[in-house]
Amino acid sequence: MTWRFSKRFVPGDSGLLTFTRPARLDQAGELVAVVQRLSLARSLADVQRIVARAARRLTGADGATFVLREGEHCFYADEDAISPLWKGQRFPLEASISGWVMLKRKPAAIADIYKDSRIPHDAYRPTFVKSLAMVPIRQLRPIGAIGNYWASTHEPTERELALLQALADSTAVAIENVYTYQHVEAARLETLHRLALAAEYRDDGTYEHTERVARTAFLLAQAIGLSERDASLIHQAAPLHDLGKLAVGDAVLLKPGRLSVSEFEHVKKHPRAGAAILTGSASEVLQLAEEIASSHHEWWDGSGYPAALAGDSIPLSGRIVAVADVFDALTHIRPYKQAWPINAALAEIRRLRARQFDPELVDAFLELEPGRLVDLPDDWHESAPGADLDLVATSVWSADSAPSDSGSTD
Ligand SMILES: [Fe+2]
Repeated sequence: MTWRFSKRFVPGDSGLLTFTRPARLDQAGELVAVVQRLSLARSLADVQRIVARAARRLTGADGATFVLREGEHCFYADEDAISPLWKGQRFPLEASISGWVMLKRKPAAIADIYKDSRIPHDAYRPTFVKSLAMVPIRQLRPIGAIGNYWASTHEPTERELALLQALADSTAVAIENVYTYQHVEAARLETLHRLALAAEYRDDGTYEHTERVARTAFLLAQAIGLSERDASLIHQAAPLHDLGKLAVGDAVLLKPGRLSVSEFEHVKKHPRAGAAILTGSASEVLQLAEEIASSHHEWWDGSGYPAALAGDSIPLSGRIVAVADVFDALTHIRPYKQAWPINAALAEIRRLRARQFDPELVDAFLELEPGRLVDLPDDWHESAPGADLDLVATSVWSADSAPSDSGSTD
């Protein structure tokens, strides 16, 4: 079986540009290609990896380093060289040439490092380096430096220094972009978090249920072989699965006992209400959240709601969250029930295999050993099944007329 999201939502199809490197590039062409790659970088790790490789290729040097300023120290974050240099090491600004270019805000070109007092010779003796060129990243207030090294005596040319400085200037812009992207991403995730919290606030002010469901769904997504990116998208979108609760009145939402048929019909509207709130977004996460909100109460055998979808016609994301949602509801205390012992919950998930849940997902879930992966309540092992089982069967999301299935969760 091939695991995939529904046709409407295709993770990874983000439309990011890719660039084809021409077969023959001169140094200027190489620089343009690097700038294009830097424009797509989304993390500092991406930037340093791109820059360290490019810095060496641009000049044909025997080695290159990517150095970041950390307070009063230089951190040699990455390198690409014929033999190891100082990757992962830190040196005081005052005791390294990268520190010198940052403090002086100008480049350094040294044909013979052992004749230059700015060089900490002891740090260089174990290396191949005879000559170097070093330029600051961001000239006004340097945040790092890029170095080139040669194994034989070499007088760095003005053109080499100009190329390195152009790379450093582009690197400064790329780092600023990464910080901006991370800031926007953090704000976006916080907004999603608070939106999910709004939906949960009336009956779970701690927000713990949605957090646990999201984590379990993430682990299950990983277990069935989805990419880290797709699993992360599910992790971000899953907390919004019950956003439609906003449309359910307190009298029904907080009712501890059985629901009437009409109350249950009201509850059954929450998937579409959640989807309606989320629909029309250009955001990949919100598109996936809409899919999950509308499908997490569908059953594998077609007896779920709101659309009575069955089997593979239920979006994979909804099938994943359905398992995570029910397992969490079973294993944790609710106003209408005690927490089930984990073995009873697992047995219930297994019982509903190919009935409520995708059978292959259930198999993968049981392989996860959920008792060790999920944050269970301290007293879960003390809770006995029996009456609790029946209480779940009459949870707020079931009705007198509904089958007595524990798969009714919020
Ligand atoms: Fe729900």
